Amino acid sequence: MSNNNPILKGESLYKRFEGVLAVNGICSTLYEGDILGLIGENGAGKSTYVRLLVGEHIKDSGKVFYCNREVNWMDTYEALIDGVGLIHQKPTLVPELTAAENIFLGKEFTAKGLVDDSKVLKKAEELLIKYPINPSFDLKLIAREMSAGQREITEILKVLSFNPKVLILDEPTASLTEDESKKLISIIKKLNKEDGLSVIFISHRMEEVFNLCTRIEVFRNAKSVGIVKKEDFDRNKIIHMIINRDLSEFYPEKAVTIGKCLLEAKGLCSEDLKDINIRVNAGEIVGIYGLSGAGMTEIVESIFGLRKIDKGTLHINGQELKSIKVSQLINKNVFLIPEDRDIKGLFTKFTVRENMTISHLDYLLPGFLINKWKEKSIVKRGIKDFGVVCADINQEMHSLSGGNQQKVVIAKWLFKDCNVLILDDPTVGVDIGTKREIYLMLRKLTNKGKGVIMVSSEILEIIGLADRVYTMREGSISSELCVNEINQKNILENVL
Ligand SMILES: Nc1ncnc2c1ncn2[C@@H]1O[C@H](COP(=O)(O)OP(=O)(O)OP(=O)(O)O)[C@@H](O)[C@H]1O
Ligand SMILES: [Mg+2]
Repeated sequence: MSNNNPILKGESLYKRFEGVLAVNGICSTLYEGDILGLIGENGAGKSTYVRLLVGEHIKDSGKVFYCNREVNWMDTYEALIDGVGLIHQKPTLVPELTAAENIFLGKEFTAKGLVDDSKVLKKAEELLIKYPINPSFDLKLIAREMSAGQREITEILKVLSFNPKVLILDEPTASLTEDESKKLISIIKKLNKEDGLSVIFISHRMEEVFNLCTRIEVFRNAKSVGIVKKEDFDRNKIIHMIINRDLSEFYPEKAVTIGKCLLEAKGLCSEDLKDINIRVNAGEIVGIYGLSGAGMTEIVESIFGLRKIDKGTLHINGQELKSIKVSQLINKNVFLIPEDRDIKGLFTKFTVRENMTISHLDYLLPGFLINKWKEKSIVKRGIKDFGVVCADINQEMHSLSGGNQQKVVIAKWLFKDCNVLILDDPTVGVDIGTKREIYLMLRKLTNKGKGVIMVSSEILEIIGLADRVYTMREGSISSELCVNEINQKNILENVL
């Protein structure tokens, strides 16, 4: 339980990056045994603030106090040794090392002066048993080959191996599966209850924050705009604090008219998929939902020609494709916005401008010279339509806040005239205002007679948005639910 002793406190912290005031005089206190939720729009300054606390960014001014003494940690490692661990929004691991080696990097167990690999693995296994976020996680995986979720689990175990007194988690569940997220949350609750762990938890998933936190602090435009205690948690009130206006209806209306079939997959079989039959009609948002590993990403990647299939056909506007290839699908105006955007969707060393236009080079390069005027207008429109927060269009992607990177990936596909848009969990890490923008935009597309297929890891999003739902279990479609059958009970019965 929390008491009134401050354990970690930021006092009048300021941080400016070229052109952007990312943290503007924030004062915030975490008490012993407290679980403080930090929420706010993309680019509000949450990640920058917690990085200032642990010394990862150098503050322009202000002070940090830990256990009532002023601290000036030079990096996250110093903070960790002192008892404050930050789990990053986007962990960076040593790419050539395994999960186990990354976890114990710098404190490998040595046998006669040499690193003892088997001991490192054994210790990591003990850690995974103690913190079973995913009990079947393969600790021998090389970081370079890990998915975003696997990198996240590695980072969590690494920080927990230091037995911190304060744990700061920056959107830890954005890349985890629903099941892993639940386990992580119960682990945090247990550590809080039994060991008095104090926690700062950043997330865009409101249900999660409500369930876990004892207080919620809202950041807006680089400032803290208020704190709400558990007994006063109220969704609408907090949404209002985040975006400074009311959101009457969160999800757009469901489809009114449904037209002809735009895309249909018949009998797709592969190593991971068993006899998949799905279709999307004009005017429809089709949701695909299942537990992690049930094959959702495999379906959309197979349809888009990114995975080998053994059997099955794909029909677009009633015509069978000779072969399922990415280039063919793009030609037919079928686009995929992939999951795990760091690897598949973005060029993080490039600028916002380059990332947005890279998929439109044919349009911008009619005479082999980029039409600068056209390019600029495309990018500016994307930034405006999606409210991307960036200093200017030549800012490098990696320096954008996590959610703003996401918006760029989605924006870049929408200049083109799509026929079917396929999205793999598009709102992960996206703030509540932008989520709604994305929903409205998808509905606008379907109202124009386009089709949308969307995989989502959030069941409420599927229920709120989809006109038809396919549920999945172990690589097969387990049910097809029409609009009046879409509810939590029907979905869960078919995925468990
Ligand atoms: N290294 C950097 N260089 C330049 N600007 C940066 C850098 N890091 C952050 N910023 C800017 O500072 C602002 C705050 O970013 P921050 O990452 O703290 O937001 P956030 O609240 O964590 O957002 P999200 O929910 O999207 O993760 C943003 O406008 C971002 O572009
Ligand atoms: Mg962030």
